Amino acid sequence: MAWKTLDDMELGGKTVLVRVDINVPMEAGRVTDMTRIDKIRPTVDDIVAKGGKVVLLAHFDRPKGKVVPEMSLSHVVDALAGSLGRKVVFAADCVGDVAAAAIAKAGPGEVVLLENTRFHPGEEKNDPDLAAQMAKLGDVYVNDAFSAAHRAHASTEGLARLLPAAAGRLMEAELRALEAALGNPQRPVVAVVGGAKVSTKIELLANLVTKVDHLVIGGGMANTFLVAEGIEVGRSLAEREMAETAREIRHRAQKAGCQIHLPVDVVVAREFKAGAESQTVSVHKCPPDAMILDAGPETVARLEAVFAEARTLIWNGPLGAFEIKPFDAATNAAAQAAARLTREGKLISVAGGGDTVAALNAAGVAEDFTFISTAGGAFLEWMEGKELPGVKALMG
Ligand code: 3PG
Ligand code: MG
Repeated sequence: MAWKTLDDMELGGKTVLVRVDINVPMEAGRVTDMTRIDKIRPTVDDIVAKGGKVVLLAHFDRPKGKVVPEMSLSHVVDALAGSLGRKVVFAADCVGDVAAAAIAKAGPGEVVLLENTRFHPGEEKNDPDLAAQMAKLGDVYVNDAFSAAHRAHASTEGLARLLPAAAGRLMEAELRALEAALGNPQRPVVAVVGGAKVSTKIELLANLVTKVDHLVIGGGMANTFLVAEGIEVGRSLAEREMAETAREIRHRAQKAGCQIHLPVDVVVAREFKAGAESQTVSVHKCPPDAMILDAGPETVARLEAVFAEARTLIWNGPLGAFEIKPFDAATNAAAQAAARLTREGKLISVAGGGDTVAALNAAGVAEDFTFISTAGGAFLEWMEGKELPGVKALMG
């Protein structure tokens, strides 16, 4: 790999600025999902073991360059300290005397958390002056925030160019998993892409069809592809104006030797609500007053057959309206099939992006996948084939 890891760095007696992503969901001042916080520990422990002092830099939410008290990272201090099993010293600014004093105060094995980098307008502008002020606080830079690596900000990009820089353990794990899934994968590769809209995933689909052997399209996006083939989808969510784009993607897939899989049977209902009366019909038989809310069992059986032939699976987005029962059935069944093949050592399975992790957690299979990314937008941009500025800056 072209980037350095903690193994390459001399950290004894050094102050290490570690960019992490602890942009976690919070309700009423409490963290509701600890995943991103819990994933920081290996990096922190390794830096401490090598004799370094850990100073965490992070953003929270989108305060747009202003101090917004509800978006203070002080609200995550207790959760962070509990997860790390270490004392956390909080500094009310990410640069300047306040930050320097907190760093000086922290004892061996203690961790410093600096206030939300996005309280400074220079963060999102990747202002070199702000990056230089950050750089003054430490000796080494470690980026462990893959999920924020699609942002070229002062703490994710500019700073990497000012200090000796390395990837943290989570960043390393993410990059290795992604390389195994799309960079240099074992074939055949199958990608599952679901979700509501084609319009938000055009670039992703266009890139994937040139890289994978099978592309499974699910969710509302599948309806748009069905419409493009002249299939009636009743009152289903579909972007009729995207039909031409869908046909272009099909054409591109054909040229690249990528097989696209659309639903052959669907679960339809008249209402979009949990427990709505539903029926399973052929994809050619959606009643004009009904909506497609999930893929049917025949479709799932075909997907399982595709998965069984594949060596690598990459998954983004649910196959149906998984957030309301019973329209989570296809997503659950397909996820369970992928999990079983992974457990049996037959499949490398990587998933990420927004709803995907929630869907896999709901299916009870997140633990069985080879790798689940902590990233939302960064995972999608990577699937689009884009270079992530935060990763690129680590390449030197
Ligand atoms: C995320 O939550 O996806 C990352 O932390 C990036 O946050 P952003 O979309 O506000 O840049
Ligand atoms: Mg986001």
